[in-house]
Amino acid sequence: MTILAIESSCDETSMSVIKDGSIDLGTVILSQIDIHKLYGGVVPEIASRSHVESITIVLEEVLNKANVKIEDIDAIAVTYGPGLIGSLLVGLLAAKTLAYIYNKPLIPVHHIAGHIYANNLVKRLEFPLIALVISGGHTELIYMEEDYSFKRIGGTLDDAVGECYDKVARVLNIPYPGGPSIDKMAKLGNDTYKLPLPLNDDSYDFSFSGIKSAVINLNHNELQKGNTIRKEDLACSFQNKVVEILTKKTMKALKEYNVKNLIVAGGVAANSGIRSSLEQECIKNNIKLTVPPILYCTDNAAMIGAAGYYAYQKGIISDINLNAKANCELGENI
Ligand code: KG4
Ligand code: ZN
Repeated sequence: MTILAIESSCDETSMSVIKDGSIDLGTVILSQIDIHKLYGGVVPEIASRSHVESITIVLEEVLNKANVKIEDIDAIAVTYGPGLIGSLLVGLLAAKTLAYIYNKPLIPVHHIAGHIYANNLVKRLEFPLIALVISGGHTELIYMEEDYSFKRIGGTLDDAVGECYDKVARVLNIPYPGGPSIDKMAKLGNDTYKLPLPLNDDSYDFSFSGIKSAVINLNHNELQKGNTIRKEDLACSFQNKVVEILTKKTMKALKEYNVKNLIVAGGVAANSGIRSSLEQECIKNNIKLTVPPILYCTDNAAMIGAAGYYAYQKGIISDINLNAKANCELGENI
């Protein structure tokens, strides 16, 4: 089954042609980062306008890259939510138009399901599994017993982990998105600043607004005293706390749910500290760990095509009335 997948939930216009939920025949990702960088974050109005400008170009390019004609496609999969509503609507309208004109099934895909199924492009998912989804918009722990069955066991109560990275970067005058730069700086610094371990309790929930405020206050106090912040040390102290809490709660979930497979997904899965901490713990506890390559960690349509294949197997198909949702729970009926 060959699926044309469309993803436009935030600041990447992406399309992909995916065979049988696992083979990437061609993916195009048009990032708007350079435009949003000027404003220090994603500007929703600019994002949707950029999607409109790129969507037909990306379609033409992906069909060329995958060497297929639209007639050869069996179904269209699209991210319907969550995300920026204006951005989502552009991809959704393109998907609905193609499905209608070429009479193809339309498969609605939840963005987080996509991030999880990015791993299926690397290696077939093995169940039961725990997925740690960490991105600019999400921080979630999901339990899966079989394909396309999602149980959310915890998540952030406020900021997403990537969002927190980007805000800390802003305090340090690092351009958007600052996550990758903080990661690089952390490797050069020492853990010398005292920061709180966020929401260190028995739940599977996370909270990152406290540590973000702690970094803002620390920076402010040091500047007031006329001291200069040692940016690498602050990045290292911050990253260590984030890695510690993510690792602690993920390992606890694996143990309590008696699960031997862990997958990590989302843009922050690219983080070297999180990767190496989870790798070490998984070796110690005999857990199989899968992390997608960087290309499939950040937003892309290949992951939507992979998830769409398994959604279709479960009979998840929409009619032309499918609407975009800025907020929606993974696993809820659409
Ligand atoms: O999954 P993604 O592309 O978009 C969302 O769905 O949100 O994730 C983007 C986020 C940004 O916040 C970015 O700063 C963060 O992932 N990120 C990182 C790293 N690479 C990307 N955060 C920490 N360390 C990294 N190496
Ligand atoms: Zn994402």
